[in-house]
Formats: sequence, structure tokens, C-alpha cells
Amino acid sequence: MKNTNISKNSEKLLSVSDISISFLQYTQGLRQNILKVISDLTLDIREGEIVAILGSSGSGKSLLAHGILGILPNNALLEGEMKYRGKVLDQKLKEKLRGDEIALIPQSVEFLDPLMKVSEQVIGETKDENEFKIKKAKQREVFEKYGLGKEVDDLYPFQLSGGMARRVLISTALISNPKLIIADEPTPGLDDKSIKETLNHIKQMADDGAGVILITHDINAALEVADKVAIFYSGYVIEIADVADFSGEGENLRHPYTRALYNALPQNGFALSDGHQPLHEDLTEGCVYYDRCDHPTDSCMSINPDLGEIEGNKVRCHRGHRKYSR
Ligand SMILES: Nc1ncnc2c1ncn2[C@@H]1O[C@H](COP(=O)(O)OP(=O)(O)OP(=O)(O)O)[C@@H](O)[C@H]1O
Ligand code: SF4
Ligand SMILES: [Mg+2]
Repeated sequence: MKNTNISKNSEKLLSVSDISISFLQYTQGLRQNILKVISDLTLDIREGEIVAILGSSGSGKSLLAHGILGILPNNALLEGEMKYRGKVLDQKLKEKLRGDEIALIPQSVEFLDPLMKVSEQVIGETKDENEFKIKKAKQREVFEKYGLGKEVDDLYPFQLSGGMARRVLISTALISNPKLIIADEPTPGLDDKSIKETLNHIKQMADDGAGVILITHDINAALEVADKVAIFYSGYVIEIADVADFSGEGENLRHPYTRALYNALPQNGFALSDGHQPLHEDLTEGCVYYDRCDHPTDSCMSINPDLGEIEGNKVRCHRGHRKYSR
């Protein structure tokens, strides 16, 4: 279901260039160890566009979100460059835009304060009476949009169903009319109806002109709403494909891992591939997919490919320029 809102004239909201995130860890004694979690990540997002980031648990998806928002833990090191509407997105600008132009729909409903009524936490702190009235009206408008009646305003988080709590989190993000929304795993734990609803809300946000980064490990959810899908593997983005390329026998997909994911979908016959993603500390200098690849080339063992551009898509594979055929 492709979003039709993106045109060449849509403004580029966020560009992320060669981002890496590592942690400084102290091991025995006072020895320092650098653990790299995300490597050389490059990604753009435009107004009205939904970019899904697809990766397994622990692959660095939430860290990427927190890196964009400027809320990484203190022991994290962020390298590379991010720009928001053409301006360098440094920590100062992140703090200015966070919760305003750039909003997070957090991964866990635990982000809600258990001791505060939901309407109060969506409105946030405000001392000025006029400002409060404006925000209260906006909160009601957003709650109505997401099917949360007046009676919900005075409830505490423990009184909400899973689906309602998700909608409150979405409302918290939308109260400031953000231009860029990062939705971190908004569907796990929800029943089918609530998943559908949540994905519809996400589509609605893009239809209203926002850029949305949808972080998920649910490929079906990604294919349902996204325009582009970026696939994480062992901390690297190994392909950024147009959603339309996930069709047929996957012949337009350029990376063997993306095709393996696609072929593992129930509708494509559950063709599961062997092996697992290596941890960052176990990576060698070659391609991260080398151990699982059916057709490696001579250079694959020793040279990790860069993310190259082919016909508008991006792929990190020495053979990515070749179209796949069975
Ligand atoms: N403060 C920290 N110090 C060291 N390592 C960390 C820290 N926070 C996260 N990590 C590591 O970074 C990796 C990526 O974490 P992240 O939370 O981004 O994964 P994720 O892709 O969002 O996973 P999930 O799908 O389970 O939410 C994990 O392996 C995690 O152990
Ligand atoms: S770079 Fe080589 S090993 Fe890696 S996926 Fe491509 S062909 Fe396979
Ligand atoms: Mg996460």
C-alpha cells in the first residue's frame, strides 16, 4: 500500500551520513573496550515519507532513534553527521527540536508515568494558563482523533488497555505537530485489530505531511505502510529498498539477506535460511553476511562492501549490481 504523498518537491527532513554508535566499556581492571553497535549508517527521510527500519532484536534500532533525538546514554559515542532540514543536527539543535518538531513514539508503554493522569502527561508542564488552555484543546483534539473519549483524560496508565496505552503514546508524540516522527516498535504485544489501527495512524501521520521512521522487526508491518525499507544486519544497513521491490520472487532485491527475509514470509513459502547474525565483537574484516552467503566472490572474505547506490536503491554487497535470478 504505497504512500502517494511523496513528490520530488518534498523537502528532505533528515539526512544521516555514515553514523556509527559505540560504547565505551570498562573490563577487568580499568581496561577500556569499545563495543561498536551501529556502523556507517546512511539514511534520508523526506516529508510525507515512511521509512521502515527492519532489524532483529539487539541490532541497534532503538539506539539509532535515541541518537537522532540526542538521548543516548552517557557511555555512548556517536560519530558521523546528521542534518535536519539542511542544518547540522548537533546536540543543541536536537534538544531544541525534541518533543517539538521531532517526536518519539517510544518502544515501551513504561515511558508513561504511572502516577500521572494520562491527559496531564500528554499536555506536559505548563505554568501559563492560556498556554494550558491551548494545549488542553489540542490534547482533546488528538485524543478524539485516536478514539480516546473524554473519560480517558482522568485515567492513570494502569487503567488503560494495551491498545489505549499505545494510542496515548502516539498522542504524546503528536501534540506538538511534529514534522519528523520516530515510532520505535509500535506494534508488539498488540492484537491484530490494534496493529491495523496503529499502522493506519502511522499512515495518517505521513498523509498529514510528517516524515515517519518506523522501527520494527515485523516485515509485514513494514511492507504494509512504508515507502522504503532499510534492513539492519549486525549493525550495518545492508540494503535500502523501495517497498515495491518486495514483490514477485524478490528479483528486484539486491542483497541475499533481504531476499532470504522476503522468502521466509509465510506467503512466500517459509524458505528459512540457516545461520544467525554475528555479534559485533565477532565480525571480521570482510562482509558481515559472508558465512551465510551462497555466492560470495573472491573479495567478500577480506573486504566489507560500502553501501552503494543502484537504480535509486542502496545495497552493501559486492554482487549487488547483479539482478537476482533463481
Ligand atoms: N548503555 C549501553 N551500554 C552497552 N551496550 C548497550 C547499551 N545500550 C544498548 N546496548 C547494546 O546495544 C545493542 C543495541 O541495542 P538496541 O536497544 O538499540 O537494540 P534494538 O534493535 O532496539 O533491539 P529490540 O528490538 O530488542 O528493541 C544491544 O546489543 C544492547 O545490548
Ligand atoms: S558482499 Fe559477498 S558475501 Fe556479502 S552478501 Fe554480497 S556476495 Fe555475499
Ligand atoms: Mg529497541
